[in-house]
Amino acid sequence: MDHFSLYQRVNTACAKNKLDIGGADITFHTRFIANAAAIRALYTESYGYHDRSELLFDELLQTIIDAYIQRPAALQQRDTEKEKKDNWFLSNEITGMSLYVDRFCGRLSDLPGKLDHFTKLGVNLLHLMPLFQSPAGESDGGYAVSDFRQVDKRFGSLQDLIGLQQKMQSEDLYLMLDIVLNHTSHQHAWAVKAKAGDPVYQDYFYMYDNRTLPNRYEQAMPDIFPESSPGSFTYVQECDKWVMTVFHHYQWDLNYTNPAVFNAMLDTVLFYANLGVDILRIDAPAFIWKQLGTSCQNLPGAHTLLRLIKQCVQVAAPGVALLGEAIVAPAEIMKYFGTGSFTGQECDLAYNATQMALQWDALATGDIRVMLAAQPELLQKPFGSSWITYTRCHDDIGLGYDDSMIAAAGYDSYAHRRFLKEYYSGTYPGSPARGALFSVNPKTQDARISGSLASLCGLENAVEKNDPAEIALSIRKILLMQAQSFFIGGIPMLFYGDEAGYTNDYSYLNDPAKSYDNRWMHRPRIDWQKNARVDLKESVEERIFSATRQLIAIRKKMPVVADLANITWLTPHNIHIAGFLRTYGTQKLYCLFNFSNKPAYLTWYAFKEHKGAFTKLYDHWGQERHTIGPDHEYFVMEPYSFCLLEAVD
Ligand code: GLC
Repeated sequence: MDHFSLYQRVNTACAKNKLDIGGADITFHTRFIANAAAIRALYTESYGYHDRSELLFDELLQTIIDAYIQRPAALQQRDTEKEKKDNWFLSNEITGMSLYVDRFCGRLSDLPGKLDHFTKLGVNLLHLMPLFQSPAGESDGGYAVSDFRQVDKRFGSLQDLIGLQQKMQSEDLYLMLDIVLNHTSHQHAWAVKAKAGDPVYQDYFYMYDNRTLPNRYEQAMPDIFPESSPGSFTYVQECDKWVMTVFHHYQWDLNYTNPAVFNAMLDTVLFYANLGVDILRIDAPAFIWKQLGTSCQNLPGAHTLLRLIKQCVQVAAPGVALLGEAIVAPAEIMKYFGTGSFTGQECDLAYNATQMALQWDALATGDIRVMLAAQPELLQKPFGSSWITYTRCHDDIGLGYDDSMIAAAGYDSYAHRRFLKEYYSGTYPGSPARGALFSVNPKTQDARISGSLASLCGLENAVEKNDPAEIALSIRKILLMQAQSFFIGGIPMLFYGDEAGYTNDYSYLNDPAKSYDNRWMHRPRIDWQKNARVDLKESVEERIFSATRQLIAIRKKMPVVADLANITWLTPHNIHIAGFLRTYGTQKLYCLFNFSNKPAYLTWYAFKEHKGAFTKLYDHWGQERHTIGPDHEYFVMEPYSFCLLEAVD
């Protein structure tokens, strides 16, 4: 379709909806026209072949217009303010926290009463873990959604969510929610109709009469949960068919080769946008496009759909940033920011899962060379996009970086990964970590790691031994890990409980709905009496909380920490010290992290490699001044210490 006819089609759709494209709705119309060609091209790439393609394209245009019409004025106003900031999410002033509302405080209506916890800490973005209806016992922590528009009763109501968002907005807090795009619960209305034999809804999923195609698919598809849910298909007795279930057997994969599925899910994306979501976390985007004979992950078709979603969101709700939760190999993750003419036009944010895992690697080995080997790849991130940086989240830690990165540090990749797994599951002699292996694949012995930040850093072990020196050491490790995530560029996302040193919670073992999934060991139930100890001087909770607060405060006052493609890694003068330089205008901040259990030495020359004549460094963390010495003398870092050194005259 040529551009003229396309623009006419957009104009006709606007006119049908009585939009005033020369007046009140001119900005929306301009955005629509600006993105129309991309929307059309991406749509055609995915659905051009489909017999109902044109009809459903008109439906898609209407979905965008409906969302715009329904977008509350306050959110439109917020869109305008964000647009003025130009990529508002790159700011150093944003720090987030992920939490389960029920485990944090009970219900949505209880959360407004807890907002001071965040304000006190300096957190101004909340990622509320899935809130929409999800069957108890078959919920995957809410990632098996049976109704995308109904808040699950155990959290409250949609009205509670809207009320909370309004309160948050009035207090300048940002909101992040999930859209579970890849699958629905088997109890979602579409799945229920498919089970009942409705062919229209069977086409919303990948359903097969027998095992022929499922077998062929499975030859190339890796298992995601090999222990609790092996294979990628589940037999559905009600209709005597096999359905694709990449994750758990109760999570049915949506069939995005069907444009009706895309339109329905885009409508949901825009529904969430209009609830006032600032960042929409797209769950498991790597999986949304399937193709026989492939791993069904990271396929070009998935990127086309994400780009299409991005273009549509930009038209209807331009203030909403998209976060792609793709926990994939370093080279693959970069593609989620868009490539070619769509560079910077796909997901605005992605998790820096590689860096997260590499921090755990460095903490166990005391050697930062694997981390360093990964940086050339990670620095490919396009300007204008950003990371979510983190040490822990609700999921496991996957050692998903490349073997070549391990080899570059001189290690054998198999033995190295085995060491890390043993170290963090506590089976390595002398390891203070208390974690567990998650999803061990019996065929490949691949495994990921579960455990809370504090337990993996040795706090659980140290508290049990009642050993003050070990407690102090584990707190140093916790802060080292957090500090690196806070200053490396991107939005730091704390995981609730970590700010107060919560260790593993083993009560999940007594709950049959959770006992098969040890990720629950690091999803704590907040004990507000324990949390009150953040005010008790010298308690473990207070030491961690106030240090975390201080880190956030330092970050907030330093524009040099905003994610503006302004990071340079230092040459490895010492294999224990991970160091990078952040620059902005004339401001320079050296961020140094000693991952070793021994003091580490850095020659003063390390500070002379980069342009700029300065003679002193001010450590914002240690609050002391250092004078740069002669090249052959040393700056000494204590075990597991870090410093945030600003170049000053
Ligand atoms: C994402 C979620 C994870 C969930 C999976 C399936 O990876 O973070 O918790 O199990 O998607 O929805």
